[in-house]
Amino acid sequence: MKSIIASLLTASLAYAQTATESEPSLSDIQGAAATTKPYSPVSSVTGLAFDKFYQVWLENIDYEDAAADANMKWLATQGITLTNFFALTHPSEPNYCASAGGDTFGMDNDNFNQIPANVSTIADLFDTKQISWGEYQEDLPYPGFQGYNYSNQKTQANDYVRKHNPLVLFDSVAKNSTRLRQIKAFTDFEDDLAHKKLPQYAFITPNMTNDAHDTNITFGAKWERSWVSPLLNNSYFMENTLLLLTFDEDKTYSKTNRIFSILLGGAIPDHLKGTTDNTFYTHYSIIASLSANWGLPSLGRWDCGANILEIVANKTGYVNYDVDTTNLRLNETYPGPMSAGEYSKFSPVWPNALTSGNCSAGHGILNIVKETYKGTVPTYNYTSPFPYDTKSGYNVKVTATKKGNNSTGPSSLVAKPNAAISLVSPTTGSVFGLLMALWLSLF
Ligand SMILES: *[C@@H]1O[C@H](CO)[C@@H](O)[C@H](O)[C@H]1NC(C)=O
Ligand SMILES: *[C@@H]1O[C@H](CO)[C@@H](O)[C@H](O)[C@H]1NC(C)=O
Ligand SMILES: *[C@@H]1O[C@H](CO)[C@@H](O)[C@H](O)[C@H]1NC(C)=O
Ligand SMILES: *[C@@H]1O[C@H](CO)[C@@H](O)[C@H](O)[C@H]1NC(C)=O
Ligand SMILES: *[C@@H]1O[C@H](CO)[C@@H](O)[C@H](O)[C@H]1NC(C)=O
Ligand SMILES: *[C@@H]1O[C@H](CO)[C@@H](O)[C@H](O)[C@H]1NC(C)=O
Ligand SMILES: *[C@@H]1O[C@H](CO)[C@@H](O)[C@H](O)[C@H]1NC(C)=O
Ligand SMILES: *[C@@H]1O[C@H](CO)[C@@H](O)[C@H](O)[C@H]1NC(C)=O
Ligand SMILES: *[C@@H]1O[C@H](CO)[C@@H](O)[C@H](O)[C@H]1NC(C)=O
Ligand SMILES: *[C@@H]1O[C@H](CO)[C@@H](O)[C@H](O)[C@H]1NC(C)=O
Ligand SMILES: *[C@@H]1O[C@H](CO)[C@@H](O)[C@H](O)[C@H]1NC(C)=O
Ligand SMILES: *[C@@H]1O[C@H](CO)[C@@H](O)[C@H](O)[C@H]1NC(C)=O
Repeated sequence: MKSIIASLLTASLAYAQTATESEPSLSDIQGAAATTKPYSPVSSVTGLAFDKFYQVWLENIDYEDAAADANMKWLATQGITLTNFFALTHPSEPNYCASAGGDTFGMDNDNFNQIPANVSTIADLFDTKQISWGEYQEDLPYPGFQGYNYSNQKTQANDYVRKHNPLVLFDSVAKNSTRLRQIKAFTDFEDDLAHKKLPQYAFITPNMTNDAHDTNITFGAKWERSWVSPLLNNSYFMENTLLLLTFDEDKTYSKTNRIFSILLGGAIPDHLKGTTDNTFYTHYSIIASLSANWGLPSLGRWDCGANILEIVANKTGYVNYDVDTTNLRLNETYPGPMSAGEYSKFSPVWPNALTSGNCSAGHGILNIVKETYKGTVPTYNYTSPFPYDTKSGYNVKVTATKKGNNSTGPSSLVAKPNAAISLVSPTTGSVFGLLMALWLSLF
């Protein structure tokens, strides 16, 4: 087993230059756990539609199965059900990656992926206004743990896994010890809640049992209702808060990747409880909504053109796109440097971000993104409300129109010439991907 891992990691090093082994020993973990303290900055920047935003992701459930669950139905009565919300690809990790970085970068695997430091994340957006942010990862052994997994030490059952931790995938976070300590455990959530030290934004990942990954929707939804219920009665937690309960992706890869999602919290007016919002959204819509809510810039990635949650769009006046999902395929992604040749093709070129434009949130592009990508051609039409790629033909048949505005017409999908992307043979990637899949299946 060890030697398989070692050779896989060698393959990984040769294959993706930023990948490194990071699997500390149990004694290293215990040592670090004894000395690493969580960091819980607080702030109170007022937003247009909410002052705090938290999202909880469960795993791998088809829309219909979640919608049929009794506990999910109860949760839906407490808020707004988003009936047209899509994950971006398969498997898990690229969806988590996209929620923080605004792109999948072609990722089609759950490997030890590391995104280079010249890629910005939502942490950089929040930092422009000192909006406190954090993550709560259940059973993380200590704040900022960077290992591949931390299992139940008694039973060896899966608990914390790196692939479900969005920000740790990015070097701009993982190489910054302050930021790392904002990636905390559920015990820290309880502590921050009790001491009124919750950040204004948090990404919340239950362990592999609670999130339905190793169980099913009956178990996951029961856990989620039991976790959320006391919060709904907690006035500190609820005050002008928006809480999103969603999934990383659906389960059946041939389906559309629509995921059952509910908005709850004190920011939801009573008359909208138990209602639905049928606007087209993706995980990128959350970044765009956070930007619109707090007046933050865009990452210049797919968050730029993403639709904005109606509860925020109603405040800014932004008119969302109506996306015809008939031909939409969000069950795989386009070629990129994070591909292991599993469902997408490997391309060595890191996509360039967009450096100009207002974006759906209306606050332009993050300065560091403008500086980093100055003079480069954006790789994709990041102003689109859904991801597409003319080079590979990905989602090019999808059309979008501005709601209630007949003069806008269907969006043209004839993109500007892209920066050159050469596809290299995916052979090494496929072999690596296959071996990695075999290794992961041992978990
Ligand atoms: C990671 O997972 C493997 C496979 O289940 C397990 O053997 C190992 O102990 C886990 N590592 C930690 C630190 O929990
Ligand atoms: C997952 O978390 C729950 C508490 O929420 C805990 O009881 C359970 O043991 C954890 N799962 C595993 C496999 O350790
Ligand atoms: C590390 O993160 C903190 C908090 O986000 C930020 O203020 C600081 O500028 C970062 N340091 C570097 C070297 O990027
Ligand atoms: C989930 O698993 C439990 C027991 O393992 C079972 O009773 C229940 O019917 C399952 N639910 C679904 C939707 O498969
Ligand atoms: C929350 O409050 C409601 C009504 O006040 C009550 O019925 C419910 O039991 C409470 N739930 C929890 C988890 O405290
Ligand atoms: C995505 O869906 C299409 C159409 O159903 C299917 O042909 C393709 O194989 C699916 N991709 C994956 C990775 O399952
Ligand atoms: C947004 O505004 C529309 C039109 O007034 C209204 O029907 C809808 O309920 C509002 N949605 C939210 C979430 O506030
Ligand atoms: C971008 O925003 C600015 C300031 O709100 C506005 O003046 C300008 O017209 C906008 N440009 C476009 C293309 O919408
Ligand atoms: C960003 O970093 C990647 C990996 O080091 C590199 O290939 C790419 O050229 C960089 N992009 C820019 C615009 O500097
Ligand atoms: C758009 O055009 C259709 C017919 O072309 C018309 O029925 C509809 O009322 C128009 N909608 C708006 C908001 O103008
Ligand atoms: C409707 O379309 C026109 C022409 O493209 C544009 O000027 C206007 O801003 C749009 N209105 C809305 C509400 O999007
Ligand atoms: C980019 O996408 C937007 C939104 O769909 C569309 O209006 C625009 O025409 C596209 N740009 C190009 C160059 O294709």
